Amino acid sequence: MRFSVATIRKIQDVFISEMNKGIHQQPSSLQMENTYIPELLDGTEEGLYLALDLGGTNFRVLLLELAHGAPVRQEVKRYYISSELRVGSAIPLFDYLAECVSDFVISQGLQDVELPLGFTFSFPMVQHSLDVGILVTWTKTFNCSDAVNKDAVRLLREALDRRGDTKVKVVAVLNDTTGTLVQGSTLDPDTAIGLILGTGSNACYLERADRVEHWETERHGEREVIIDIEWGAFGDNGVLDFIKTDFDRENDANSLIVNSFTFEKYIAGKYLGEVVRVILARLTKEGLLFVGESTSESLLTPGSLTTDLVSHIEQDSVDGDDSNTKEILGKFGIIPDEDDIRIVQYVCEVASNRAALLVSICLATLLDRIDKERITIAVDGSLYKHHPRLEGWMKQYISLLAPGRKFKLIHAEDGSGKGAALVSAIAQRLKKRLQ
Ligand code: BGC
Repeated sequence: MRFSVATIRKIQDVFISEMNKGIHQQPSSLQMENTYIPELLDGTEEGLYLALDLGGTNFRVLLLELAHGAPVRQEVKRYYISSELRVGSAIPLFDYLAECVSDFVISQGLQDVELPLGFTFSFPMVQHSLDVGILVTWTKTFNCSDAVNKDAVRLLREALDRRGDTKVKVVAVLNDTTGTLVQGSTLDPDTAIGLILGTGSNACYLERADRVEHWETERHGEREVIIDIEWGAFGDNGVLDFIKTDFDRENDANSLIVNSFTFEKYIAGKYLGEVVRVILARLTKEGLLFVGESTSESLLTPGSLTTDLVSHIEQDSVDGDDSNTKEILGKFGIIPDEDDIRIVQYVCEVASNRAALLVSICLATLLDRIDKERITIAVDGSLYKHHPRLEGWMKQYISLLAPGRKFKLIHAEDGSGKGAALVSAIAQRLKKRLQ
C-alpha cells in the first residue's frame, strides 16, 4: 500500500504511455475522449439554462440565469433515484429523469418556454459530437445494462417527447469533470484541469487541438479542446497490475461491475471505505485486531464501512483524538482497546494516503503535458470535500512530483450542475456562430 520512488515513477510512465496511446486511438485503458468543447465562456452568455446532473451522490435539476457569462440566479431541486431504477432497465430510468425535469420546469412556471438543457451524464461515453454520447459502461452505483452502447441524449430526448409537457431542448451532454473545469474557469481564468474526487473519480484537461485525432465533426480552426481522460478505467488492461494488492482484488470482487474501473477502485468514495473494511476484516480474522471481541458480523459484510466513516476517523488522526473512531466502531458492536484504535486509524491513513498519491501522480503528469506557466485545477466531489487530509497531501505530492510547476487547487463547488448550464450556453453560442 506504500509506494517506493521507483513504483511512483513507473505509474507515471505507464500513465503517460496510456494517455499517448488513447489520444492516438490505439488500444489503451485511457479513453481520452473528445468533448467537443473547444472554448470556455467569453462573457457574452446570457439567459435561462437548465442542467441535469446524473451520476454522483445526488441527482439534480438546476435552472441557471446567466448575465455576462456568469450565473446571477440559481434554482436547484434534488431528486432521489431508487436502487431499482439504478440497476433496472434504461426506459424506466430515463422516464423518471424526464418526469423530474418536467416536475421542476412546471414548478418554475416555465413549461411553455424553450429552454436549452445541458446534460451532465457522468459515465464514460464515446462522443460523436457535443450532443451525442454513447454509453461505454456504467460505473459507481448504476448498472442498467440495456443502455450500454446507446446514446444518453437520445434516451433522454425520447423520454421527454413521450411526456410532451415541456419545451426543453437537450443541447449538450458532458461529463462532471468538464462541468467542473468550465465552472472553475469562471472563478479562475488559469483553470485547465477539472477533477472529480467523489463517488467516482476522473479528470479532464485542455488539450492542444492539433494533438487530438478523434474529431468527428468539422473542424473550425480550434486551438484547444477539453479531453475527458476517463481515468477511472486506468489499468483495466492490466498495465497497473504491479500495484494491485489482495485487498484490491477483494474490493473488486465485491463491486457492482467486477474487472472494470481498476483505478477508480483505488481512489474513489464508492470504494475507499471498502478497501479499509477489507483490510480490517483480514486483520480481525488473522487475530491481529479486536482480539477478544466477538467478531463483528457487520464489519465482515461488504459495503458496511462507507467512505464518510473513513473521513471521520481521519479527522481523529488530524485532531489527535479518538472519539469518532470509538463511536464508529461502537456502531459495529466493537469496543476497541488502545491498540485497536491506533491500528484502525493507521489503516484509514494508509488507504487514504495511497489515493491522494495516485491522484497526485496523474495530476503532476498532466501539469507537464499541458505545459502552461500557471495552471489551476478545479476540483469537486464529496470525497474531496469531506476528507480532512486529501487536499493537503495532494498539494504536497504534486509539488514534489512536478517541481517548478506553478499550480493551484480550487474548489469549484457544484461544477457538475452549474457547469452543465454553462456548457449549454457555450453550445448555443458555437451553434449560432456556425449558422
Ligand atoms: C465515470 C466518469 C466520472 C467519474 C466521476 C466515473 O465513474 O466514469 O465519467 O467523471 O466517475 O463522477
